[in-house]
Amino acid sequence: MSDRHRAYAELTRSGPVHEVTLPHGSPAWLVTGYHEARAALVDPRFAAVETPLAHLLDPALRAATESSMLSMDGPGHARLRKLVMAAFTRRQVERLAPRIQQITDELLAPLAERGSPFDLLEEFAYPLPVAVICELLGVPEDRRGDFGKWSQITVNSLVVGVEALSAALTEFVSYLRELIALKRAEPGDDLATALIAARDGGDRLSEDELTSMMQLLLVAGHETTVNLVASAVHALLSTPGAWDLLGAEPERVPAVVEEALRFNGPVQTATERVVTEDVEIAGTTIPAGAHVRVALLAGNRDPKAWPAPEEFDVTRPPGPHLAFGHGIHLCVGAPLARLEGRIALTSLLSTFPGLRLAVPPQDVPAAPGVLMNAFATMPVVPGP
Ligand code: HEM
Repeated sequence: MSDRHRAYAELTRSGPVHEVTLPHGSPAWLVTGYHEARAALVDPRFAAVETPLAHLLDPALRAATESSMLSMDGPGHARLRKLVMAAFTRRQVERLAPRIQQITDELLAPLAERGSPFDLLEEFAYPLPVAVICELLGVPEDRRGDFGKWSQITVNSLVVGVEALSAALTEFVSYLRELIALKRAEPGDDLATALIAARDGGDRLSEDELTSMMQLLLVAGHETTVNLVASAVHALLSTPGAWDLLGAEPERVPAVVEEALRFNGPVQTATERVVTEDVEIAGTTIPAGAHVRVALLAGNRDPKAWPAPEEFDVTRPPGPHLAFGHGIHLCVGAPLARLEGRIALTSLLSTFPGLRLAVPPQDVPAAPGVLMNAFATMPVVPGP
């Protein structure tokens, strides 16, 4: 078990809710129980808030990045969610399958040909979802490096501090405005064009809402699916016989993607919430105004919800895990992430039937951070 999982497991064992201090020193409450987490995520007293440090940004920059559905609840959230869902339908996601397969094949072919050890994270798990989300939004290839840098800073804002955040967001927003202008002038067959055109009756997205929405989609599409692929591979290669079993029965891949999401999902906690009044959970009162983080990683291994939760079980029937959140903010990109995860795993299994980790499983390093649950690298050997 990783140190991170051990820490969450210890907390879960001692109760479903805890007062903690986050790494940057601010106090927060952590909900670790599965049932309590699900209840909190549908409870309107747990209100969405802006991302940490947003209140310190210049007002124009704040409006251009915080007018997003993840920072609001109620009718404001419902309105934005409806507009994005009009542009990002399940059918459109399914239409992407051949292109995702093509990108996957293009990434795997040179690795197979080379036949030498490689970093699965850097050479496959990262470039795949980045290429997909950038293509989906119509971001040209030469700007993808910039997006990687801006996304990293955005999700690690508490670690990098407000100055670095502000500098990165200024560049990010300025580029998004350029992209929006370009798509207005030359509409394409992409999500940016669809978002610009999205309408609900007479309603449409404002400029700040467009930049905030595109920023949210790009960041969420960058930093999460990478670790779905990486953690699925890590879990499979750390469990004796699992890679071979799945290679022989690839029809199990969709269920294994769900088990990987449960076992070691890409997101540690839901984004911060604030309780609007005193809330009692299992005899503990979280005082009005307190900041709360719902620990998805802990809920997904709560023994009160899952038999043998510490076991990665390729035959476990899919259950209602919390990796994509729950309630009104349930991940918009889940169908896309699942599709990418399935294509990535199926292709890795058929290209590298002898794949193995180059180091003992516990030595594959985790990336630091309080929001994402990521690996830093993943050295693998392609096998015979
Ligand atoms: C929301 C996880 C992929 C777009 C969320 C939330 C979680 C999550 C936990 C809820 C956050 C909260 O309640 O505070 C994941 C995981 C992914 C993934 C584990 C990959 C395995 C994606 C992708 C996209 C995306 C590929 C975009 C294409 C979004 C958006 C929201 C969201 C827009 C906000 C929804 C709302 O506020 O109503 N995601 N996500 N996600 N995700 Fe994802």
